[in-house]
Amino acid sequence: MGTETPKTVIITGVTRGLGEALAGRFIDAGHTVWGCGRSQSAIQALKTRWGVPHCFESVDVSKGDQVQNWLDPLLKQLGAPDLLLNNAGVINGNAPLWEFVHVLEVHLKGSANLIRVVVPSMISRGSGVIVNFSSTWGRSVSPEGAPYWAAKWGIEGMTRALAQELPRGLSAVSLNPGVIDTEMLRSCLPGMAQACIKPDQWSQGMVDFLLQLGPEQNGKALTAP
Ligand SMILES: NC(=O)c1ccc[n+]([C@@H]2O[C@H](COP(=O)([O-])OP(=O)(O)OC[C@H]3O[C@@H](n4cnc5c(N)ncnc54)[C@H](OP(=O)(O)O)[C@@H]3O)[C@@H](O)[C@H]2O)c1
Repeated sequence: MGTETPKTVIITGVTRGLGEALAGRFIDAGHTVWGCGRSQSAIQALKTRWGVPHCFESVDVSKGDQVQNWLDPLLKQLGAPDLLLNNAGVINGNAPLWEFVHVLEVHLKGSANLIRVVVPSMISRGSGVIVNFSSTWGRSVSPEGAPYWAAKWGIEGMTRALAQELPRGLSAVSLNPGVIDTEMLRSCLPGMAQACIKPDQWSQGMVDFLLQLGPEQNGKALTAP
C-alpha cells in the first residue's frame, strides 16, 4: 500500500489511548478516519474536532448489529477502506468469570465483527489490510492476567487463520504495539506505566509504518517500530 494518495482507515477504540493518537496522526497526514468507541461524550468531542469526511460513532464493537449499522451505509456510499485497525480493547482486573467473558468479547468478537462487515468490501475491490492489535502478552504469559492473555493469543491465532483465508491482494497481520502509558497500562501496571512512552510520541511514524503494510506481510506477527 503506498502512502502517496489519501487513504480511508477504520480505527476501533478512538476515544483515548493509542486509537485516539493514531486517528489524529492519520487525519494530520491527510487521510480519512472512520472511528468508534463506546463513550458518547468522547465521540461527540471527536465529531466536533474533526467533521466530514471523517466519521466518529458511538459503537460497541462486541455488538455485531451496532458495527453493521454504523459501517454498512459508509461502505455502500464510499466503498472499502484501505486499512482496518482492530485496536479497541479492555483488560481485566482481578477477574471474575463475567469479566473474563467481557474481555474475550471485546477483543475476539469485536475484531471478528469488524472483519465480517468490512472484508467483503475489500475482497470486491481486491485490496485491503487488516491489523489486529495484539500484545507482548499475545506471545508470552505471566500470572493473573489469563483473560487478557487468552484474548491476545486468540487474536494471534485468528489473524494467522484469516491470512490463509484472504484472497490475493488482501492481507492480515497482528501487531504488538509495545508498552505505552495509557489508561489500560495504568490499570494493569500502575507502578511502571507513567515511565513509559506516551501515545502521542508512540504514534509518530506509525502512519507510514501502517500504510506500507501489504501482501508481503500477510500472516506476520509484527511489533511496532
Ligand atoms: N498500552 C499498551 O501498552 C498496550 C500494550 C499492548 C497492547 N495494547 C493494545 O492496544 C490497544 C489499545 O490499547 P490502549 O492502551 O490504547 O487502551 P485504552 O487507553 O484503554 O483504550 C482502549 C480503547 O478501546 C475502546 N473500547 C473498549 N471497549 C470497547 C468496545 N466494546 N467497543 C468499542 N470500543 C471499545 C475504548 O473506548 P470506550 O471505553 O469509549 O469504548 C478506548 O478508546 C488494545 O487492543 C490493547 O490491548 C496496548
